[in-house]
Amino acid sequence: MAKAKTVHRCTDCGATFPRWAGRCESCQAWGTLVEEPVAAPTSKRTAARQAAGRALPTVALGAVSAAETPRWRTGLAEFDFVLGGGIVPGSMVLVGGEPGIGKSTLLLQVAARLEAAGQGTLYVSGEESALQVRLRAERLAEDARGVSLLTETSLETILATAAERLASGQPPRLLVIDSIQTVHTDLLEGAPGNVGQVRECAARLMRFAKETGTAVFVIGHVTKGGGIAGPKTLEHIVDTVLYFEGDGTLDHRVLRATKNRFGSVDEIGVFRMAGTGLEPVENPSALFLGDRRDVASGSAVCALMEGTRPLLVEVQALAARAGFGTPQRVANGIDARRLALLLAVLDKRGGFSCAQLDVFCNVVGGMRVQEPSVDLAVVTALASSIVDRPLPADAMFLGELGLGGEVRPVSQIERRLAEAAKLGITTAYLSDRAMPRRAPGDLHLVGVRSLADVLQRTLGPAADARGAA
Ligand code: TYD
Ligand code: MG
Repeated sequence: MAKAKTVHRCTDCGATFPRWAGRCESCQAWGTLVEEPVAAPTSKRTAARQAAGRALPTVALGAVSAAETPRWRTGLAEFDFVLGGGIVPGSMVLVGGEPGIGKSTLLLQVAARLEAAGQGTLYVSGEESALQVRLRAERLAEDARGVSLLTETSLETILATAAERLASGQPPRLLVIDSIQTVHTDLLEGAPGNVGQVRECAARLMRFAKETGTAVFVIGHVTKGGGIAGPKTLEHIVDTVLYFEGDGTLDHRVLRATKNRFGSVDEIGVFRMAGTGLEPVENPSALFLGDRRDVASGSAVCALMEGTRPLLVEVQALAARAGFGTPQRVANGIDARRLALLLAVLDKRGGFSCAQLDVFCNVVGGMRVQEPSVDLAVVTALASSIVDRPLPADAMFLGELGLGGEVRPVSQIERRLAEAAKLGITTAYLSDRAMPRRAPGDLHLVGVRSLADVLQRTLGPAADARGAA
């Protein structure tokens, strides 16, 4: 087949060029030219007819059928939850994550479960041989023998295979592409995985999903920076973006929705990688909290909101005398600049100087915390480590810290407190400006105004604490 005609389009300004260049001559942006196919030329008369368009009846919003979209439940509880209640027919979902985190395992389990429920599936692997996929399938608790496998990288072949199964009355309800970076289309010249190829393949798979009602799941690799390799536009094209994250050395994995046209975002599902595939973890807070009977100094508990779900995490801090040179600041799970800011607040408003100390801060279990509600826990853990006195094991700290050392209220306080009470927390320190009317269970609420106030109540008089430091 002769190569189809292509142009190079700037993804910033939209200008087109016949040849690739490093810089767009129109808007002067670097590295924005992407190859894309051009439609076959049409005669002037047909072009004019097409351009004229055709009027269609419109519909009042109130008359749109409000019946809930049917969803396919896989029975893998955490997976269904993150998607918003199951797989939506005709949707396209991007699953991103670092190599080895378990993306192929997860989607093979999903395919096996749908197959067992009588829904046809097609698993396309461009990365592994049929034998490799089979060896993985044999480890799983699910029976994956019914899943149809295609080891192929040509998009045209993949779509033709899926279309043929549709025509023969055994439609795949679920199409898995492992991974989008290995698939290529003949319409473009670039190597698989380049921006133009990824964008074009994703757009055609999206069209296939919408036209046939097939749910398409594509796996995408993650770059060093944490984004999905290839263009950001990939995330714009698809309906749902799921990130699979976790610490390679730990067993548990967190599946997070960062975009979802059919559910809420920032929902997470927690899994454990076992010998028989991924198992949903029913009580993630207990996992991240661990055993808290004998806590050392420098540990504090906080309740986060992950989407609609509260999650208890332990924050650990260690302040140790610095060797020589600039003291080190190491932050795991929280933003390093946030840690620097909190150290400054602790120094100025709490009276604990860290200038001569190496400071390490860690969120247990490899969780990455984005919200500022963890501020108070980080600072109290640091102060506790500096004076080497443990905080009460069954206390929780909830609050954002202002630069003036004031403790600010956090959102959805009732949900966080309810989760804490369920897991055996007996005292919660929170902003006195937003005290809930009723505490859940026998949780004791302590309203605090400032950082100095919290430190005074938990670690004793500040002067005493400074003396120990
Ligand atoms: P994989 O799903 O291939 O990861 P990805 O597709 O994201 O690159 O496999 C992830 C890892 O999980 C791999 O190192 C092997 C391990 N694993 C288990 O521990 N238990 C299992 O049951 C399976 C299938 C894999
Ligand atoms: Mg894989």
